[in-house]
Amino acid sequence: MFAGEGKSLIKQHCASCHMLEKPEPEQIPTLKAPAFDAVLFHLKDAIRDKAAQKAFIIDYVQHPSASKSVCESNKVAKFGVMPPLKGKVTPQELGHIADCLIEIYPHPAFVRMIKEILRNNAMRAL
Ligand code: HEC
Repeated sequence: MFAGEGKSLIKQHCASCHMLEKPEPEQIPTLKAPAFDAVLFHLKDAIRDKAAQKAFIIDYVQHPSASKSVCESNKVAKFGVMPPLKGKVTPQELGHIADCLIEIYPHPAFVRMIKEILRNNAMRAL
């Protein structure tokens, strides 16, 4: 599979809701779904095994539910549960999409930004 194939499937099926670029801190409150940087940051934190990460994405897109969510609980509270895309995207296409997401996200610049935000919050609490 070419990485380009996964990317164009992501643009076609996911990008109307999930931001593909690194969000700036001031954009985060205005998004209608968590940016993929944030989704994959949480997913990789919660699930270490790559095959299990891939299986999670393939399943979640077809059968999303609050009880499965690995993003912090405020994501579902803030955005509502993701609408299921079952029937709109095939499991095979989802396999390409998942490989591509796991390869690309989170961007190193996003991880640096999150660490900076966490550090600032910790400083403020002192
Ligand atoms: C109609 C808008 C919409 C589309 C299209 C969409 N999503 Fe989502 N997605 C959301 C919202 C809102 C959330 C946050 C709430 C949640 O986690 O269910 C979310 C959350 C997620 C999560 C995190 C699950 C968790 O742990 O909470 C994954 C993974 C995900 N989406 C993958 C995808 C993929 C892959 C596609 C494209 C095939 C896609 N989404 C298309 C709206 C969308």
